[in-house]
Amino acid sequence: MIEFIKRLPKAELHLHIEGSFEPELMFKLAQKNKIEIPYKTVEELKKAYNFSNLQSFLDIYYAGAKVLRTEEDFYLLTQAYILKCVENNIIHTEIFFDPQSHTSRGIEFKTVLSGIKKGLDEAKEKYGISSNIIMCFLRHLSQEDAFETLKQSLPYKDFIIGVGLDSSELGNPPSKFEEVFKEAKKEGFKLVAHAGEEADVSYLFEALDLLDIQRIDHGVQAINSKELMQRLKEEQIPLTLCPNSNIELKVFKNYKEHNLKKLLDYGLNVCINSDDPAYFKGYLNQNFINVFENLDLSKEDIIKLVKNSFNSSFISDKLKEKYIKEVDKIAKS
Ligand code: ADE
Ligand code: ZN
Repeated sequence: MIEFIKRLPKAELHLHIEGSFEPELMFKLAQKNKIEIPYKTVEELKKAYNFSNLQSFLDIYYAGAKVLRTEEDFYLLTQAYILKCVENNIIHTEIFFDPQSHTSRGIEFKTVLSGIKKGLDEAKEKYGISSNIIMCFLRHLSQEDAFETLKQSLPYKDFIIGVGLDSSELGNPPSKFEEVFKEAKKEGFKLVAHAGEEADVSYLFEALDLLDIQRIDHGVQAINSKELMQRLKEEQIPLTLCPNSNIELKVFKNYKEHNLKKLLDYGLNVCINSDDPAYFKGYLNQNFINVFENLDLSKEDIIKLVKNSFNSSFISDKLKEKYIKEVDKIAKS
């Protein structure tokens, strides 16, 4: 089954490009940009990747992102992730980036986007990998700040498919960003948001009712509301689950306690993603393998999860059909 998982063509819908920043590349770019890292070696840095909750991870993640300065840096970051896509048989990816992590340090929006786009254009050309870019507002910052970011993005609207919401969830509910999401919708952006990762179901109801999102990132806390579970099932609202992330950030004690299989069996539209793979011990295949080995997933479950990813993506129906056929070809072989 592990070989089967590896062979299946897959899509990834929840991946923070800054979260794919491997320590080796971080050290290389830090040296080039003359930026001090408070760790002497790659091994020492990796030892610091021992998190107790979301915030303890975000502190290290934002510190790491400060090493990225030039368009070339963002290109190299993206190029490295694309090589992981090739390794993991990811044929379509929708990646998040956090513009405010960079613009707040004086890096231009255009610099960040151009570097990422160059990497993704090359991915299409060299490997046939398709992609979409989603920019996330940092929810620990103000709605005003998010509005400023939305304004900065408008000249590049053609290259950004959607808007998301990430960072410190507790204390920063979706309602804080109701107006800016309304404006983003008017501008034609697709809408997604992290919700119900650590915070209770009220954040999920707000994300759906006030932000009008099309996909929920994480959403594992939905299990605590029968009403919400029913609604997610009826409306087939996608949940982009990230098992490794949930274990590393102590949302669940271990893989056996993860509720992915329960959500899937209830009939929810869930899929598997890697979130911040450089920090969470593995890329997409490893996420699949970890849940397969601990949650008694069948071959049909795996195929359903993979098809859910393609069907929940922001690609055309025609491309979805093409990709699903490719999945079926491997599934039947
Ligand atoms: N930014 C990067 N990864 C994140 C996560 N898992 N939750 C919220 N914000 C994030
Ligand atoms: Zn995330």
